[in-house]
Amino acid sequence: MITTKHLNLRPSTAADAQRAFEIQSDWDVTRMLRMASFPPDRAEVEGWFADHPREWVAGEAYRFAVEHEGRMIGLVDIDEIAGGEGELGYWFERTAWGQGFASEAARAMVRFAFTELELSALRSAHAADNAVSGRVLAGLGFRLLDKVERHSRSRGETVLQCRYRLTRDEFVE
Ligand SMILES: CC(C)(COP(=O)(O)OP(=O)(O)OC[C@H]1O[C@@H](n2cnc3c(N)ncnc32)[C@H](O)[C@@H]1OP(=O)(O)O)[C@@H](O)C(=O)NCCC(=O)NCCS
Repeated sequence: MITTKHLNLRPSTAADAQRAFEIQSDWDVTRMLRMASFPPDRAEVEGWFADHPREWVAGEAYRFAVEHEGRMIGLVDIDEIAGGEGELGYWFERTAWGQGFASEAARAMVRFAFTELELSALRSAHAADNAVSGRVLAGLGFRLLDKVERHSRSRGETVLQCRYRLTRDEFVE
């Protein structure tokens, strides 16, 4: 469990699938998630969450349910771990937006990745029309690398993705 000023982050499990399904049933959330389907598929979401404890033990991915006042409001994770690097991701329900929660949770996750996992660099990416996510990454010190066309499963079309990187040396607590 990681505790920040306003949030608790705890490893996610199968029990979180229902809340995740509710959150991803909002198009304004899921259209920003390149790998997610819309509408969300309940069995797929359940299967994904049920696999999180195995991923953790295997060192493949570290995913945290983010709780505010006892309620799960989103997820933050590090996945695609290989060669001392990983990928930062996050999504929150709409009613939680605009209160600094993504920045707070993502900062805790970056710290976890560099100090606990001892990764040397993190990558992340957002759709070009997701400027708020760009603000989250910029606030953590991520540098824009490039912009690439990528297929978005949720949108069913190609979207322009802005890709970022942050090394452990660049991260300022
Ligand atoms: C993107 C997302 C995670 C941002 O979450 P959030 O909790 O609202 O973000 P924060 O409150 O930490 O705000 C981050 C920055 O954006 C700014 N911001 C927040 N909402 C804004 C808005 N509506 N318009 C302009 N700026 C905004 C904040 O001021 C802050 O900027 P600063 O650090 O320069 O002060 C959230 O909107 C979300 O879950 N969206 C759907 C899923 C998604 O996009 N995930 C990321 C995929 S790459």
